[in-house]
Amino acid sequence: MRAVCPGSFDPATAGHLDIIERAAVCFDEVIVAVGQNSAKSHMFSAPERVELMRAACAHLSSVSVSPLDGLLVDFCRSRGAPVIVKGVRSCGDFEYEVQMAQWNKELEGIETLLIPAAAKWSYLSSTKVREVASLGGDVRPHVPLAIAEQVQRRVAELRQAQGE
Ligand code: PNS
Repeated sequence: MRAVCPGSFDPATAGHLDIIERAAVCFDEVIVAVGQNSAKSHMFSAPERVELMRAACAHLSSVSVSPLDGLLVDFCRSRGAPVIVKGVRSCGDFEYEVQMAQWNKELEGIETLLIPAAAKWSYLSSTKVREVASLGGDVRPHVPLAIAEQVQRRVAELRQAQGE
């Protein structure tokens, strides 16, 4: 069976990659859908986030990465994937994800499976990774190795653009 792991992944964290790897153990194929969250401002453009995620997942033969435009349920149907997999870190995540899961079930009958985040990554979020990196903190332990350098490079570019 095929599953979809959606997210905005700006940038992907070690926690995201852990969920994708665990989904790949449970399903024949996993498609990582890289979308936009209109409520968030992005450090990387959509095509950049797709490329970064491809680099992060290069070691996973059953995992592919695609851009997500429009409704997630339409993406799932068009790819023949009846299941969405997401990670949950906290009660806050759970409330948000249950509401999304109910919408996606109601709209197109797509099921959602929630995987508890690994305890060691439960404090991680892309938002905090962006904040810590942009203030000069070392986020290399918190993002996939394949994208750590790109995060540092983008922070340097943003600082240069701001004249720092
Ligand atoms: O990393 P995020 O911010 O949790 O990712 C959110 C994302 C991109 C997965 C979500 O916003 C999404 O599913 N977008 C597609 C549009 C859609 O289907 N919206 C209705 C969801 S009920």
